[in-house]
Amino acid sequence: MSVGRSRALSLALLTASFAALVWAGSAGAQMSDQNERCFECHAKADLGTIMVDGEERSLTVDPVAYRASQHGLIDCTGCHIGFKPQAHTEAESEDWLYTARTTACGTCHGDVAAIYAGSTHGQEHAKRGEGAATPDCATCHGSHEIATTDTIAFRRSAVDTCSSCHGGRSGTYLDTYHGKSFALGRPEAAACFDCHTAHGVLPADDPNSAVSSQNVVATCGKCHADANDNFSSYLVHVNAKDPRDSVIVFMTYAFYATLIAVMFTLGGIHSVMYFYRGRKQGMYRRRHEHE
Ligand code: HEC
Ligand code: HEC
Ligand code: HEC
Ligand code: HEC
Ligand code: HEC
Ligand code: HEC
Ligand code: HEC
Repeated sequence: MSVGRSRALSLALLTASFAALVWAGSAGAQMSDQNERCFECHAKADLGTIMVDGEERSLTVDPVAYRASQHGLIDCTGCHIGFKPQAHTEAESEDWLYTARTTACGTCHGDVAAIYAGSTHGQEHAKRGEGAATPDCATCHGSHEIATTDTIAFRRSAVDTCSSCHGGRSGTYLDTYHGKSFALGRPEAAACFDCHTAHGVLPADDPNSAVSSQNVVATCGKCHADANDNFSSYLVHVNAKDPRDSVIVFMTYAFYATLIAVMFTLGGIHSVMYFYRGRKQGMYRRRHEHE
C-alpha cells in the first residue's frame, strides 16, 4: 500500500471515529433522558414490592449500579419492551417477565439467542415456560447489574450457577483435576462452560455436543494442544466411589483405600505391642530413674 493511500485511509478512519463519537454522545443523552423518567419512580426506595414467581421483589432499581453495568447506556425499554414512563397498564405488564428474561435479550444479542434456542436449556425452557428449573438468560447473567463475562469473578459465579442445578456433576468436577485446580485459585483450569459451551449445551450423546465422542478431542484441544483420542477419554466427572462410573477407577480407589486402612491398623497394632513390651522390660521406668 502506498503512503498516500494509507494516509487517506487514516483520515477516513479518523473522520469515521469522530462521527461515531458524536453519534454515541447524542444517543447516550437521549437514552438517559428516557431512563430518568423511569427513575423518577423506580429510584425511590419506598416504591414497594411486587410478587415475581412467588417471591417478593423490590420495585426499586439502583441507578448507580445500573449505570455502571454493561447496559448503563441502554433504555430500560430495551428489555421492558412497551413500558411507558407512567403508571403501567395491564397490557404493558402482560408476559413482561418472560420478555425481560429471555426474548428481549435476543433483540440485541441475536447470535447468542440463536445458539441458546437450539440448546437443551433453550428447548427445555421454551417447553416448560418461565419459572421452570431450566436456565434463561437472566438466570446466568442477572438483570440490572449485568457485567462482562471475561473476568475471573464471572467465571467463578458461572460455575456456581451451573452447580446450583447440576449438583452431582459439580461434585465429580470438584473431585477431579480441573475442579480442584479451579477451586484452588487457578481460573485458567477448565470450567463447566469451557467444555460444555455456555449457550449451546447439549447431551453428550448428541453428535453436535461439544463433549460428544466426535467433538471432545477438539474441545480438550482448545487448551491441551497435544490432545488425542486417548487423552480425551480421561474421565473428567468420575465418582471414584461408584463402580458404575468406572470399574477401573473404583478398583484403584478401593485398593488404595483398603491398603491405607490395613497399613494403619498394622501400624497401630505394632505400636501398641512395642509400647507394651517396652513397659514390661522396664524401659520407661529406668529412663525415669535416671532423670
Ligand atoms: C409513575 C411512576 C412510575 C414510572 C414513571 C414508571 N414506573 Fe414502572 N412501576 C411503577 C409501579 C407503581 C409499579 C408496580 C406495579 C404496577 O403498577 O404495574 C411498576 C412496575 C414496573 C415493572 C414490573 C412489572 C409490572 O408491571 O409490575 C417494570 C418492569 C417497570 N415498572 C418498568 C418501568 C419502566 C421501564 C419505566 C420507564 C419507561 C417505568 N417503569 C416507569 C411505577 C412507575
Ligand atoms: C438487560 C435487560 C434489562 C434492562 C436494560 C432493564 N431491566 Fe428491569 N428487569 C430485567 C429483568 C431480567 C427483570 C426480572 C428480574 C427477575 O426476575 O429477578 C427485571 C425486573 C425489573 C423490575 C421488577 C422488579 C425486579 O427487580 O424484579 C423493575 C421495576 C424493573 N426491572 C425496572 C427497570 C428499570 C427502571 C430499568 C432502567 C433503569 C430497567 N429495568 C432496565 C431486565 C432489564
Ligand atoms: C447456563 C448459563 C447461561 C445462559 C442460560 C446464558 N448465558 Fe450467556 N454466558 C454464560 C457464560 C458462562 C458466558 C461466558 C462464556 C465464556 O467466557 O466462554 C456467557 C457469555 C455471554 C455473552 C458474552 C460473550 C458472547 O458469547 O457474546 C453474552 C453477550 C451473553 N452471554 C448473552 C446471553 C444471552 C442473550 C442469553 C440468553 C439467550 C444467555 N447469555 C444465556 C452463561 C449463560
Ligand atoms: C438494546 C440492546 C440490548 C439488550 C436488549 C440487551 N443487551 Fe446485553 N449488551 C448490549 C450492549 C450494547 C452491550 C455492550 C457491548 C457489548 O459487549 O456488546 C451488552 C453487553 C452484554 C453482556 C456483556 C458481554 C461481554 O462483553 O462479556 C452480557 C453478558 C449481556 N449484554 C447480556 C444481556 C442479557 C442477558 C440481556 C437480557 C436480560 C441483554 N444483554 C439485553 C445490548 C443489549
Ligand atoms: C436452572 C437450572 C440449570 C442451570 C443453572 C444449568 N442447567 Fe444444565 N440443565 C438443566 C436442565 C433442567 C437440563 C435438561 C435435562 C435434565 O432435565 O436434566 C439441563 C441439561 C444440561 C446438559 C445436558 C445433559 C442432559 O442430561 O441433557 C448439560 C451438559 C448441562 N445442562 C450443563 C450445564 C452447564 C455447563 C451449566 C452452566 C453454564 C448449566 N447446565 C446450568 C438445568 C440447569
Ligand atoms: C474438562 C471438561 C469438562 C468440564 C470442566 C466439565 N465437564 Fe461435564 N462433561 C464432560 C464430558 C467429556 C462429559 C461426557 C462424559 C461423562 O458423562 O463423563 C460430561 C458430562 C456432563 C453432563 C451429563 C451429560 C449427559 O449427556 O449425560 C453434565 C450434566 C455435565 N457434564 C455438567 C457439568 C457441570 C455442571 C460442570 C461444572 C461444575 C462440568 N460438567 C464440567 C466434560 C467436562
Ligand atoms: C479451558 C482450558 C481447558 C480445557 C478446555 C481442558 N483443560 Fe484440562 N487442564 C487445563 C489446565 C489449565 C490444566 C492444568 C491445571 C493445573 O495444573 O493447575 C489442565 C489439566 C488437565 C489434566 C491433568 C494434567 C495434565 O496435563 O495431564 C488432565 C488429565 C486434563 N486436563 C484433561 C482434560 C480433558 C480430557 C479435557 C477435555 C474433556 C480437558 N482437559 C479440557 C485446562 C483445560
